[in-house]
Amino acid sequence: MLVNMRDLLADARVGGYAVGSFSVANMEMVLGVLQAAEELRAPVILQIAEVRLRQSPLELIGPLMVAAARQASVPVAVHFDHGKTEQKIGQALELGFTSVMFDGSHLPLDENIAETCRIIEMARPYGAAVEAEIGCVGGSEDGSEEIAMHCTDPADAVRFEQETGVDALAIAIGNAHGNYKATPKLRFDILAQVAEDTHTPLVLHGGTGISPEDFRRCAQTGIQKINIATATFDSVEQTVRGAYDAGAIGGYYDLQEAEVQGAYKNAHRHILIFGTDGKA
Ligand code: 13P
Repeated sequence: MLVNMRDLLADARVGGYAVGSFSVANMEMVLGVLQAAEELRAPVILQIAEVRLRQSPLELIGPLMVAAARQASVPVAVHFDHGKTEQKIGQALELGFTSVMFDGSHLPLDENIAETCRIIEMARPYGAAVEAEIGCVGGSEDGSEEIAMHCTDPADAVRFEQETGVDALAIAIGNAHGNYKATPKLRFDILAQVAEDTHTPLVLHGGTGISPEDFRRCAQTGIQKINIATATFDSVEQTVRGAYDAGAIGGYYDLQEAEVQGAYKNAHRHILIFGTDGKA
C-alpha cells in the first residue's frame, strides 16, 4: 500500500529501526525491491533522484513507482530524492509521490532554511512529507562530482528543525555517495548529539559500502531512513554479468529476470541488516 513517509519514519523511530530507501531506475528494480519487502514483511521506500531523470524520465517511472507501491502488500512510500528544481519537485508531487527531498545542502544555512520552507508550503496541499539536508554528504548522487564532506553542526540541526518543521533531515557524519575509496569512519558522536537535540527523523545518505555493524549502530543511535543507490545498481549489473558467465541467459526474459534478482538480493540483504523485517 502507498503510504506517507512521515508515518513510516514515525513507526521506525518508535521501533528503533531504519527503513531502507532504495533507488530504482526501471520496472525490474521496482519489482525486485518490492519482492524482497513483501517476502520479509518490511516497510520500504522507493526513490529516484533528480539527476537520474535523464535515464529514467519522471513522467514514465513516477507513475510506475506509485502504481507498484499501491499494489504492494506492505507499506511503501515513494520518494523524490535530491530534488534540485521546483519544477521537478512539483511534478513528483503531482504524480502522487508521498515524499520529496529538497537538497539545499550546498546553500548557506539561511538560504537552505528559506528554500526548504518554500518547498514545505508547496508540498502541504498534497500531504507529502519533505526531507532536507544540512552539512555536506561527500560525492554526488550520480558519481559525477567530488564534493568535500563537511559534517553537520548539531546547533544548525536544532535551528533548522525549529525554523522549518521539516519531516526528515539528512545529516552528514562522514558518509558519502557512491563506493567509498577508504573505509568510512562515521562520526557517531555527532549523530548522537543531533539525535538528542532534535525530534526530526534523521536520514543517512551514501549507504553503499557502510558495514552492517555501522548500519545497526546508526539505527540504534537515531537514523530512521537509510538511502541505498549504488549497491542496487552494482548488484543488478553483477547479477546480470554472473548469469551471462554461467550461460543462464538464453534470451531477453532471462536477462529481465536476472535484473529483478539483482535488485531483490540487494534489498533483501539490507532489509535484514536494518532490522526492518517483520515490521510491516
Ligand atoms: P549510495 O549511492 O552511496 O548508496 O547513496 C545513495 C544515496 O544517498 C541516495 O540519495
